[in-house]
Amino acid sequence: MRGTKPNDKPDYAQDLVSDETVSRYREQGLIRIPGMLTREEVDRLLEAALRQLDEADKVAWDRGGGRVMDWVAHVDRRCADLRGLALHPRITAIAERLAGGPLRMLKSELLRKAVGGSAPTPLHADAPAIPFTGRPIGMTAWVALTDVPIERGCMTYIPGSHLMPHERDETPPGQSPDPFRWPRNMIWEPRVTVPVRAGDCTFHHENVLHMAGRNETDQVRVSLATVYMDADAVFEPSDLVPDDLGGMEPGQPLNDDRLFPLIGAGR
Ligand code: NI
Repeated sequence: MRGTKPNDKPDYAQDLVSDETVSRYREQGLIRIPGMLTREEVDRLLEAALRQLDEADKVAWDRGGGRVMDWVAHVDRRCADLRGLALHPRITAIAERLAGGPLRMLKSELLRKAVGGSAPTPLHADAPAIPFTGRPIGMTAWVALTDVPIERGCMTYIPGSHLMPHERDETPPGQSPDPFRWPRNMIWEPRVTVPVRAGDCTFHHENVLHMAGRNETDQVRVSLATVYMDADAVFEPSDLVPDDLGGMEPGQPLNDDRLFPLIGAGR
């Protein structure tokens, strides 16, 4: 139980998520918390997000002849409003309660699935894009800033897949493993599709497999994905991840309070 030090923040998370919810998250690797943001917060943050998507340099991900999505990397470093969302007191308190330990913010990305037949997001786990070792508690908090029904590309997960081995076919010598190849043992596992309203937040474990549909509607899909990581994690470079984390050395702990602030109760 936190909240005993005089300057600690109030312990929101005890009230916001029950022990049962925490257990379900740990079993399934995902949870949806409806109504995380107020209508006023959604309106203000969506306006800031659309401005960033208009003005900032973006990373584009094209695949299979279509655009999966584009995003503003490290948007928390250029927009105070969205930094406030990435470090939102309720979201970060819940993240630490779900993870069961202190976390740092690793990165936040402002994601857009544009109108007009964008490509689906292929099945993947986030872990290969999070080049750290530590207690296995990396997670992504995904906040919808627009309604995201199935037709607008909401996420589908394989519950429990963070606890299963991800069995992949042998990678030919000299080639990198394809992170988007379906693990052989997951093809027949049940999947759960989770439409969300603007202001809802989902949390998913870094090893849970997930995918998203294309945006078939006439409105953009906007969300903020923030990755939180074990506060004591250590950098371990991977082929998949370009070094956009501030020039970290292999084996370096994630202890830069400016780039990777402690969140929630640890702040
Ligand atoms: Ni993902």
